[in-house]
Amino acid sequence: MRAHGLTKRFGDLVAVNQVDLEVPRRHVYGFLGPNGSGKSTTIRMLCGLLTPTAGEIDVLGLRIPEQADELRTRIGYMTQKFSLFEDLSVRENLGFLAAVQNLSKRQAAERIDDLVEQFHFKDRQKQLAGTMSGGQKQRLALAGAVIHQPELLFLDEPTSAVDPESRRDFWEKLFELADAGTTLLVSTHYMDEAERCHHLAILDRGVLVADGSPDELTEQLAGRTLAVSAEQPRRAQKALVAVEGVISVAQIGNTLRVLLAEDGSAHDRIEHALRNAGLTAEVAPSQPNLEDVFVSATRGQAPREQAA
Ligand SMILES: Nc1ncnc2c1ncn2[C@@H]1O[C@H](COP(=O)(O)OP(=O)(O)OP(=O)(O)O)[C@@H](O)[C@H]1O
Ligand SMILES: [Mg+2]
Repeated sequence: MRAHGLTKRFGDLVAVNQVDLEVPRRHVYGFLGPNGSGKSTTIRMLCGLLTPTAGEIDVLGLRIPEQADELRTRIGYMTQKFSLFEDLSVRENLGFLAAVQNLSKRQAAERIDDLVEQFHFKDRQKQLAGTMSGGQKQRLALAGAVIHQPELLFLDEPTSAVDPESRRDFWEKLFELADAGTTLLVSTHYMDEAERCHHLAILDRGVLVADGSPDELTEQLAGRTLAVSAEQPRRAQKALVAVEGVISVAQIGNTLRVLLAEDGSAHDRIEHALRNAGLTAEVAPSQPNLEDVFVSATRGQAPREQAA
């Protein structure tokens, strides 16, 4: 799947701005970005549901949106607010989706048997979807999204509001699908999920601001993250956010995690600022993580109003 110069305007708002993407087959491709950065809009254009203002899209060798009808049977799409029929059973929900995808009665029955097994719904086939827990519903929605064995699966924040263990199970399923040959594009706000992706793209205000594997992206921040242990972390944080070259200071327990705009020079200013404030603190280099990558990509260039 490839997009070039992908742009979407809503009136004056440029929701997606000249985005270039390349998603290799069988990859789990993660899509990150603050609220309103254009993730869902991009996904809807890639699925052929929304016409771009400009740009070219090639999905599974089809030109989108022109050939969107042909694409529909080859992709799956699980939306941010996925929907199930609450008053239909697990099996009936899957049966309905199989009919929508034009599976024959026999194909549907076989496929549903497989999915019920794979997604651990054996004892719940007759349970009404409305009575299941959030994590179970989400698992059923995923089973429904792959009923027609799509080559490519779009998942838009599929795991919002489910507990960590359900999220982990869900991701196991995603990797099983990738192993079986499916390409996945997943948007998420969870850094532990981002960590699992083969490749990440970060959007900020419609612009693609970072693109690479989790390791590549964290390596780019080498030398730019510090851990500051101070006796009075709140006061130390106040002193540090004012230092030129400091992008963010986050308190994690009693330690402050400091992200620098560039390697080097800010280090001395930090020691100086802490001394000036009369604070004793220990400043040590630390390993960058994906949260640092996210903050640096979405806050580094133009400071936001709510920046710390
Ligand atoms: N149909 C529409 N009409 C007008 N504006 C829209 C429309 N759809 C989206 N937008 C705007 O486009 C911007 C991007 O929205 P989008 O839903 O793509 O963001 P997102 O990255 O998915 O955010 P979130 O993480 O909150 O889901 C937002 O400012 C949104 O208000
Ligand atoms: Mg969204």
